[in-house]
Amino acid sequence: MRIAIINGPNLNLVGRREPEIYGHESLDSYLERLVQAYAGVDFTLYQSNHEGDLIDELQRVGFDVDGIVLNAGAYTHTSIALADAIRAITAPVVEVHISDVLSREPYRRVSMIRDACVTMIAGYGLDSYRRAVDWLLAHPAKS
Ligand code: DQA
Repeated sequence: MRIAIINGPNLNLVGRREPEIYGHESLDSYLERLVQAYAGVDFTLYQSNHEGDLIDELQRVGFDVDGIVLNAGAYTHTSIALADAIRAITAPVVEVHISDVLSREPYRRVSMIRDACVTMIAGYGLDSYRRAVDWLLAHPAKS
């Protein structure tokens, strides 16, 4: 099983950024533990603050991996280009958020990518990523 975890803008600052919302642990340290916990899964990890780079990464891995965990950060709420990239690739994409976007500001309740993704997991803190991996393992894509 190959799973790509792709993170968008400002997620490199998790741990230091608004800790009352996103917690005190860095994403790097959390994902290192996650990768170690799933010995049978071949992970690739990617983060970028740039929309086009995220699209390039989706296109690069999106025909090879078995699933993608995507936290697109604020691009979630704005990017038709990311939604098009998700629709263009074959790997199922799980939309993930650390915070509960549905109970925050109204503009965060809007997701341009939601309909292109297989499911959405949000509001569990960093554990949202583990839940997304478990979702992909429980729903293997048809080959
Ligand atoms: C986020 C929620 C987004 O609204 C926000 O712009 C982020 C992080 C989350 O993980 O909770 O950058 O995707």
